[in-house]
Amino acid sequence: MSRPSRAAIHRIGSRSLELTTVEVADPGPGTVLVRMGASGVCGSDRHVLDGDWTLPSPTVMGHEGAGTVEAIGDGVIDVQVGDHVILSWFYPCRRCTACLSGKSYVCTGSRSEECLLPDGSTPLTLGGDPVFPYLTVGSMSEYAVVPEAGAIRIPKEVPFDVASLIGCSVATGFGAVVNDAGVEAGTSAVVVGTGGVGLSIILALRLVGAHPIIAVDLSEDKLAAAKDFGATHMLVPSANLAEEVRDLTGGGAAYAFEAIGRVQTIESLPSLIAAGGKAVIVGLPPEDSPVSIDALALAESGKSLIGSNYGSTVPGRDFPRLAELYLAGRLPVDRLISDRIGLDEVNEAFDAMRRGERARSVIVF
Ligand code: APR
Ligand code: ZN
Repeated sequence: MSRPSRAAIHRIGSRSLELTTVEVADPGPGTVLVRMGASGVCGSDRHVLDGDWTLPSPTVMGHEGAGTVEAIGDGVIDVQVGDHVILSWFYPCRRCTACLSGKSYVCTGSRSEECLLPDGSTPLTLGGDPVFPYLTVGSMSEYAVVPEAGAIRIPKEVPFDVASLIGCSVATGFGAVVNDAGVEAGTSAVVVGTGGVGLSIILALRLVGAHPIIAVDLSEDKLAAAKDFGATHMLVPSANLAEEVRDLTGGGAAYAFEAIGRVQTIESLPSLIAAGGKAVIVGLPPEDSPVSIDALALAESGKSLIGSNYGSTVPGRDFPRLAELYLAGRLPVDRLISDRIGLDEVNEAFDAMRRGERARSVIVF
């Protein structure tokens, strides 16, 4: 059995998505069928459209989604029909050494990056041919089949648009600040790039009490949003950026976050922090983009440069706590949503993103 599902698919070489109807199979053992409530339009989807990363093709795009469990496969015990879930774009295998050590964010058994279910199959077809769910989510589709470990139950009071963003940008930003950097109250931070991910970093910095919080972006609109989210200083990048940050922080920020995915901004990150500071790469650059760092200067000043993938999120731990922080009014995720759109408007959302417009577009089903 299968069901038709309106979906936005990407074919290698195309910069836009094709709206079509795919077939979604019934959930097999260990997997669940989710009726999508909302899907965010994220910078990582754009990387794929712009040819920055290679993937199996064709692909149902979208990896930032939330919805309702419609059916469960044999042996599923974590969720039940009717539960509201946030989808994780890196499902843990739960068996490898990393998973068993509580570090499921570096799981070696997951097939998420191959866009495959744990048994190596894809639940999607188009005209009988296989189609792949991006990062084994494929949330730009009315239905998805995902592994049980990639569907995390959350309270029903959390609206789907908010829940979808918790699944990627908010978890990534919060995790970079809390799980990876470990920012302490009263310490300074600079955030370079204040799109959906950068604004999520600012929300988390405000929550943990960082001060000052310096936002850097090319777009005046994005900087206005950053101010609204809790940034105390807003800067447009220039040749004097490091000097401006030093002046505002008394010698350099304790923490710096890159949330664009650009080689040059990653290379400039260590210049924004003080000796002993921590620079965190959150934005993901195109494949094969080596960066050049002055290793002697880094070592002599005791600075760290670390990578943060998905904020080292443990979905089963972090999604529910982010949902609770939202419900308690401590993490106003809803303010990230600049545009609620239909699936058919997805290409316009990517065009707006390429122009540096909109904080976050969310597709509502
Ligand atoms: N200097 C400063 N800001 C810049 C620059 C630059 N040279 N170039 C782009 N920006 C800003 C844009 O104006 C925009 O506000 O970076 C921001 C990027 O935001 P989005 O396009 O909304 O992307 P987002 O979804 O936030 O993702 C950012 O994180 O997870 C990764 O793959 C994702 O690499 C992507 C990054
Ligand atoms: Zn994302």
